[in-house]
This record gives sequence, structure tokens and C-alpha cells, in this order.
Amino acid sequence: FTAQLDASDIEKGTYPHYMLKEIEEQPLVIRKIIQAYRNERGELAVDPEIQRALHEADRIYIIACGTSYHAGLVGKHYLEKLAKIPVEVHLSSEFAYQMPLISEKPLFIFISQSGETADSRAVLVKVKELGYPALTITNVPGSTLSREADYTLLLHAGPEIAVASTKAYTAQLAVLAVLAEVIAKSRSRQSGVDMARELGIVANAMETVCGSKDEFEQIAREYLDSAQNAFFIGRTLDYAVCLEGALKLKEISYIHAEGFAAGELKHGPIALIEDGTPVFALATQARVNLNIRGNVKEVVARGANPCIISMDGLAQDGDRFILPEVHPLLTPLISVIPLQYIAYYAALHRGCDVDKPRNLAKSVTVE
Ligand code: G6P
Repeated sequence: FTAQLDASDIEKGTYPHYMLKEIEEQPLVIRKIIQAYRNERGELAVDPEIQRALHEADRIYIIACGTSYHAGLVGKHYLEKLAKIPVEVHLSSEFAYQMPLISEKPLFIFISQSGETADSRAVLVKVKELGYPALTITNVPGSTLSREADYTLLLHAGPEIAVASTKAYTAQLAVLAVLAEVIAKSRSRQSGVDMARELGIVANAMETVCGSKDEFEQIAREYLDSAQNAFFIGRTLDYAVCLEGALKLKEISYIHAEGFAAGELKHGPIALIEDGTPVFALATQARVNLNIRGNVKEVVARGANPCIISMDGLAQDGDRFILPEVHPLLTPLISVIPLQYIAYYAALHRGCDVDKPRNLAKSVTVE
């Protein structure tokens, strides 16, 4: 692992924090992934054995913790929509003690930036005892989860040093999108998505979004400098990104933050809204654009201070930030970036140790 490190990979250079550097490396990482998963004919491809394992599976079980679990929630959409394989996503620490019924021909996918997380390894050990095939998606070649699984797909994100994961998350989404596309093709189902091209568009869009970091600093100042709580609301894919946005904010700024499925607000969480409560709403999905707009009105009527992040083509007056348009399945790769920056600046303004938040470790090797 160390042998493959380039000095520039593990130095901050002109960046004040690793987290900022890693946020801004995301366009490059996506381009590296497109290259790494191209075959000689220029098509996206994975190892034929991995392709066969997925092709034969009747159900996929994604097992992960933290940010990698959030990537799994998005990956489920990709694998189900494109490859048409049913997918369950489980937290490692829950799955280990409460296994659901397993299908006839399962495939287990472990998502882990470090490849060392003990909670995930505990599940892998059980899965191997039961004789099921396992694939690890990791950033670290030769890591424990990679060595002990049957197959590995690498993230090619370069070392991630900041405890709060950023570029590994978008790399996980990109690799899952590639995998879904390859399996869709191998099952001779036209996915209808030219994934290499769409990911190229994503990389460019990421650059544009990173160019607006001053705006995200301003948003963090305005909404979070004196906040005790913050909520993130969204539907479908946006909901999965809201969970990740809330995790970023709580991890490094210690502001109490939660991500909610916007349609569930009325079943409880809306009771938390007070005058001035910051509510970040993602609106990148055409199918639920009207619904999320309605949900924003509901929280505004209870005094919330809304910050709507939408996408070109779906934007409305008053939206605080408009993302460039990308393929609707790939919006999480760019909608997460404002949330990463907002968490970064909120933590910075509070004087927190951005790269090494209290009580957290980059790689948790105890259960
Ligand atoms: C730790 C880190 C998180 C990370 C989680 C899973 O809790 O602080 O940022 O998401 O572990 O790590 P993994 O290496 O398995 O992706």
C-alpha cells in the first residue's frame, strides 16, 4: 500500500486541511475511475469473474458502516434500476446479530474505504463460514476485507486522510454505477445509460460546484454559525444524500444534524422545527420535485429557515444553490459536494479540528 503512495497524495500542499483537499480531488477521482474500469475497446468492464458472480446472483446484500453504508443506499438504486437485481442494504453492526433470511444465490458486497472496519469484517467471517461469495469495494488494496473476500473492486480515490469521508463516498458511488452498468449489459438488458460519458459529465459538474465554495462558506455562516440543530430533507436518492450530509455535519462541527425522508416529516420530525431552524432541502429529482417543494412549505410555515439546493431544469425562485444538470441517477455525486463544504466551513467557523474530530477514528478496528 505504502509503495503506491505518491508524496503529493499524502501532503496537504497549499490546502489548510486534508478534508478540503479531498473534497476538491473528487473530479479527478471520478476521471481516474472511468479510466481504470475501461477495457481495451474503451467500454466499461470489470473482472469477468466478478461479472459472473453478479450475473448469477438472485439478490445482493450490501454490508457497510457510516459513509460507506450511505453509499450502499445509493448503490441499491443503481443495481436495481440498471441491473434489475434486488438489493438489501444493511449496517454491519446490525446484520452481524440479526441476519435476515438469505436468498438461494446471494452475493455479498462489502463497502469499506479502509477495508479494515471490524464490524464489517465480523459479517464477512460469518458469510464465508456459510459459504457465500463476497466482493469488497475498498480504497485500500491488500486490506483485510479485500484479502478475505473472493473479489475486490478498488476505488482509486488515493489515500483519504481526513476522518470525515468525502472523496471515498463519491468514488464508491461511481464504482457502484460502473458495476450496475456492466451487469445490466451482461444480463443483456440495455441500461439506456452511457455510464462512462455520464460520469465524465459528473466530473465536469463537480468542478463547477467546487468553484462555488465561497457561496457554501457564506451559507454555512448564515445558517449554521449559531445553530444548535440542522435538518436535511429529501426524497428518494436525495434522501440518501441527506443522511450523508447530516453525518458530515455532526461528525466535524458537532451540530446536532439529522437527515429525514421529507415525506416522513409529518409523522414526527416536524415537531422539532422552531423559529429559525436551518433546513437544507435537496431537490434534484424531477419525479418528486413538487412533493419536496410542498415539504419545504410545511417546514417554512413552522418557522424553518430553508436552504434549497436544486438542479438546473428543476429550479424555482428562491433556491439557494442550483447544481449543473447531470444524469438523474448520478445527482448524489454532485449534490453531496455543497453539503461537504457546508459541513467543512461550519466546523471551521466553530474552531473545530476538521481533520481529526473528537471521539472518531478513520478506521475502526474494534467491534
Ligand atoms: C469510521 C469513520 C467513518 C467511516 C466508517 C466506515 O466510523 O469515521 O468516516 O464511514 O468508519 O469506514 P470504512 O473504512 O469501512 O468505509
